[in-house]
Amino acid sequence: MTLQLRIYVPPHPLIKHWLAVARDAATPSVLFRSAMTELGRWLTYEATREWLPTQETTVESPLASCPATFIDPEMPLAVVPILRAGLGLLEGAQTLLPLASIYHLGLVRNEETLQPSCYLNRLPEKFDPQTRVLITDPMLATGGSMMAAMAELTRRGVDPTLTRIVCVVAAPPALQKLSAAYPGLIIYTATIDETVNDQGYIVPGLGDAGDRIFGT
Ligand code: URA
Repeated sequence: MTLQLRIYVPPHPLIKHWLAVARDAATPSVLFRSAMTELGRWLTYEATREWLPTQETTVESPLASCPATFIDPEMPLAVVPILRAGLGLLEGAQTLLPLASIYHLGLVRNEETLQPSCYLNRLPEKFDPQTRVLITDPMLATGGSMMAAMAELTRRGVDPTLTRIVCVVAAPPALQKLSAAYPGLIIYTATIDETVNDQGYIVPGLGDAGDRIFGT
């Protein structure tokens, strides 16, 4: 079977609404943060469909025994927010995945070369190969940071087919790079925009997500 990168843009009105709020340049930082939290929540909800491992059992209701499905508490789950902007999506993701381990990865983009460099890496030496990993980063523009994150994760034993990326705006350069390198990967995004400008910003995009989340 040939693997292919899959990109889902869930057609949910709440995702469309919060994307519109985030895109609007007049949205103040406090509301922009709420938009990121809500997008993190709803995109994670979509991304965890058919990804969260479950176990079948029975429970005793007050009236009778009945079949029941629980999330498998033994299966390792990890969320990797790419700092800074990935932190904006973390709260929403974490409310749905309260048992997941959170591993911070700080990548900063050189404004001239657009190349990422790592300033914080809290990843473990080795992941259990069954670990489901959800990466959060709102903007997939040139793909440099996400490629660097995937390289760090796969070097530590993460299986790309068990990995989901949650972003808000994705652009073709990032999607092409990720597709060529990690064909089994699945991406959930609120939208796919057309272009990336010379400064590495997605157009129309929503501006600098980190600046707008943190107001700095
Ligand atoms: N990072 C951002 O915050 N915005 C973009 O448009 C691209 C990268």
